[in-house]
Amino acid sequence: MAAIRGAQGAPYAAILGIGAYRPSRVIPNADVVEAIDSSDEWIQQRSGIKQRRWATPEETVQSMSVAAAREALERAGVDARQVECVIVATVSHMLNTPAIATAIAHELGTDQPAAFDISAACAGFTHGVAMASDMVRAGSAGHVLVIGVERLTDLLDVGDRGTAFIFADGAGAVVIGPSETPGIGPVVWGSDGEQFDLIRQTEDWRDVVASDHPVMPHLAMQGNPVFRWASYAMAKVGQQALDRAGVSADELDCFVPHQANMRIVDAMARAMKLPDTVAIARDIAEQGNTSAASIPLALHRMLEEGTAKPGDTALLIAFGAGLAYAAQVVTVP
Ligand code: UT7
Repeated sequence: MAAIRGAQGAPYAAILGIGAYRPSRVIPNADVVEAIDSSDEWIQQRSGIKQRRWATPEETVQSMSVAAAREALERAGVDARQVECVIVATVSHMLNTPAIATAIAHELGTDQPAAFDISAACAGFTHGVAMASDMVRAGSAGHVLVIGVERLTDLLDVGDRGTAFIFADGAGAVVIGPSETPGIGPVVWGSDGEQFDLIRQTEDWRDVVASDHPVMPHLAMQGNPVFRWASYAMAKVGQQALDRAGVSADELDCFVPHQANMRIVDAMARAMKLPDTVAIARDIAEQGNTSAASIPLALHRMLEEGTAKPGDTALLIAFGAGLAYAAQVVTVP
């Protein structure tokens, strides 16, 4: 039997650079309330959202991803040809195949890296970070580009009271590469498939085509049960991620949860007893819920506004359709 040489990677992995793309169209609450018989006051009170960004026809999943990825590469000081894997977390690339990751990799001028999409909805980005970290340490890729991108307006029913004011578009990206010290802690992740139907595409494509009056399926959500699950169960997952990384709440600089609802952000921070010294991401107020893009967008804003700085210790936690979740502690690039 031949001896197979084992793969060997870097001692540790870290996020080396971050980039973001926010669509140009700013949509205030006033523009969505009429179709759903709602009000600016209700939306702000229940979700914390003041406005959201919706993409123009030119702002595609690919173009937004490329823009975010270029900034991440530049800030990391990594050439596109050094990227050995591109992971795109999205649920709104509208072709089942091929993966949009290969087209993004090509447009970026990479040298034919591994490239694939992952589907873990709002938790997609933190899943991608976990996979990339393991790849770098195992030796399957030197540098990995992880992109979280959504054009949820393609799946939005603007007349649906439960979702029309929440979901939005955008892209965020990070470059993950080798490090002498641990820059990404162990992931805590999981799923609860018993709650599969709580957030989902309304219909299977085959049922749409078989229908006498085919309409585009949309993203539907039973908001309140998801709200309750996220507010309580996710704080425990966040605590586990801190424990596994050996970081106490006092040592944490930033908390960057998925931007689903400002009340969920606050409930998690309360349940985890985060001290006042921890800066909390609140991008949802201006950006809406961009699913897989929400964490890199939120962290990018914190860096721009100076509430986070390179070298800070941040807890990332994301949760959504599936239900799926993933959390880890990282060093801010
Ligand atoms: O990103 C993936 C993960 N997603 C999430 O984590 C989202 C989690 N869920 C949520 O963010 C919240 O559930 C929502 C913001 C979607 C809704 O807030 P809620 O506090 O759970 O509201 P609710 O569904 O319990 O509805 C409360 C009331 C109801 O009226 P009554 O029965 O109390 O008279 C609804 O009919 O608000 C009414 N309502 C609305 N009123 C104005 C529901 N939707 C609207 C609306 N505008 N759009």
